[in-house]
Amino acid sequence: MMIQDLRDFLEILEQQGKVYRLKDAVPLKKIPAIMRQKERSGQTVIFENIEGFEYPLVNNILGGREFLALAFGCSREEVVTEYIKRSKNLIEPKIVPDGPVQEVVLTGSKVNIEEFPFLIHSERDAGRYITAGIVIARDPETGIRNASFNRMQLKGSHKLGIRMMPPQHLGQIYEKAEKRNMPLEVAVVLGNHPLDMVAAASSPPFGVDEFAMAGGFRREPVEMVKCKTVDLEVPARAEMVIEGVVYPKEREAEGPFGDFMGYYVPVMENHVLHIKAITRRTKPFLQAIKAGSIEDTHLLALSREAKVYEAVEGTGAKIKALSLVPMIFTCFISIEKRFEEEAKNVLMAAFGSYSWLKNCVVVDHDVDVFDPLDVWWAVSTRFCPERGTMVIPRAVGFPRDPHRIHQSKLGIDATAPLGQWDEYERTTVPNF
Ligand SMILES: Cc1cc2nc3c(=O)[nH]c(=O)nc-3n(C[C@H](O)[C@H](O)[C@H](O)COP(=O)(O)O)c2cc1C
Repeated sequence: MMIQDLRDFLEILEQQGKVYRLKDAVPLKKIPAIMRQKERSGQTVIFENIEGFEYPLVNNILGGREFLALAFGCSREEVVTEYIKRSKNLIEPKIVPDGPVQEVVLTGSKVNIEEFPFLIHSERDAGRYITAGIVIARDPETGIRNASFNRMQLKGSHKLGIRMMPPQHLGQIYEKAEKRNMPLEVAVVLGNHPLDMVAAASSPPFGVDEFAMAGGFRREPVEMVKCKTVDLEVPARAEMVIEGVVYPKEREAEGPFGDFMGYYVPVMENHVLHIKAITRRTKPFLQAIKAGSIEDTHLLALSREAKVYEAVEGTGAKIKALSLVPMIFTCFISIEKRFEEEAKNVLMAAFGSYSWLKNCVVVDHDVDVFDPLDVWWAVSTRFCPERGTMVIPRAVGFPRDPHRIHQSKLGIDATAPLGQWDEYERTTVPNF
C-alpha cells in the first residue's frame, strides 16, 4: 500500500498491532504521562476523547526503528541506506487545486488555536506547545521553500511564540526578510506523512526544498495546495495548517521548555507568529511529539546517521547497521571486521563526519545496535579498556555547552579479537 498521508500510515501501524486507541475521556494534563507509558511499550497512541477538546491527538507514530522501516517499506537495517539512496533523488512537488487539508477554512475571529489539544509536555514548560508542526517558509531572495520543525508556544487565540534562530535555515530566511523590513509568511503543517516529517527534520544544503526530498522518500511527488492567506504551498493531505506571519523586529519572552536533551532551555527573547488562518480537515488528527522522546530522537537521528554511514562506508568497512538512538550524541555501529584495528578507522570516520558525536561504540555484526542492552553486553564482554579506548581531547562538539562537556570524544572498540570467533560465538536458545 502506497502511504499518502498520516491516516494511511496509522492504518498500517494498526494492522501491525502497534496502535493503542484510548477511547475513554482523558483530561489534557494526563496525556503526557500516558504518552510516556505507551512510548515505553513501543506503541502509537491515539487519544480519541480529550475532555474539553473536539479533535483526537496522536503520538509516537515513529516509536521505533521498525516504524521507520514501515514508512520506507524496507528492513530496520536498510532504513539508513534507503534514506541515503532516496535523498539523492529529489522529486519536485505537484501543485493540485484542492485537498482535504482545506475542507474547513477559518479566518478572522473564527481562528482560535487554543481550541486544539496541544500539550504542556514538561512540568516547567511555559505553556502549551506545538511540537510536531512542520514550518514552511520561502527564502525572500531565491523564492525557494524551506521546511523544518520548530517549537511554538501558544500565546492566545491568534498568537504563537516561535523559536527560529540561525544556523537553522528558517532563522537565516527570517534574517533576510528582517533586513528588508519584510514580514515573513509561514505555514505550519500538522498531522504529517511520516516521510515528510523525516524530510523536515533533515538538513540538506541551504536552498534544497525539503518537500522535493520528501517526494524522493515517497517515490512520488508530494501533492500540495496553495494556502489561503499566504503565498505558500502545503501538503494537500495533511490534517491542519496554520497560516501566519512573523514581523521584523518583534521579539517576546518564550520558554522555559523541556528540550531534546531532557533539560529545560531558559526563557529567551524569541519570535512571534501571528495567525491569519487555520485550514483543516473536517475532523483533523492533531499530533504531539515530546522533545527527547524515542520519536523525536529517530527524527533527529536519521539524517545524521546517513552522514556517519557514508563516511564510515568510505573507509571500506563492511557496515551491518548503525544507530544514533536513544541519544544523538552516541552512535552504535556494527561491522563485519576485516582487520584487527579496523574499529579505530571506523571511529575516526564517524567522529570526523558529525561534530555533535561524543561517544561511539563499534561492535561486531552479531550485536543488535538497535538494542542498547545488547551493545552494553558487547562492551561488557568484548571491550578491553586498555586496548579498545580512543579518547580525543578538545574537538568541536555540541555547541550549547557552557561546561565543556561535549568538546571531547570517546571511542570504544567492543569487537571480539579477529580469528577467535569460536571463543566468542554467542549462545543461542535451543529451538528443538
Ligand atoms: C520534533 C522536533 C522539534 C524541533 N524543534 C526545533 C526548534 O524548536 N528549534 C530548532 O532550531 N530546531 C528544532 N528542531 C530541529 C530542526 O527541525 C532540524 O534541525 C531541521 O533539520 C532544521 O531544518 P533546516 O534544514 O531548515 O535548517 C526540531 C526537530 C524535531 C524533530
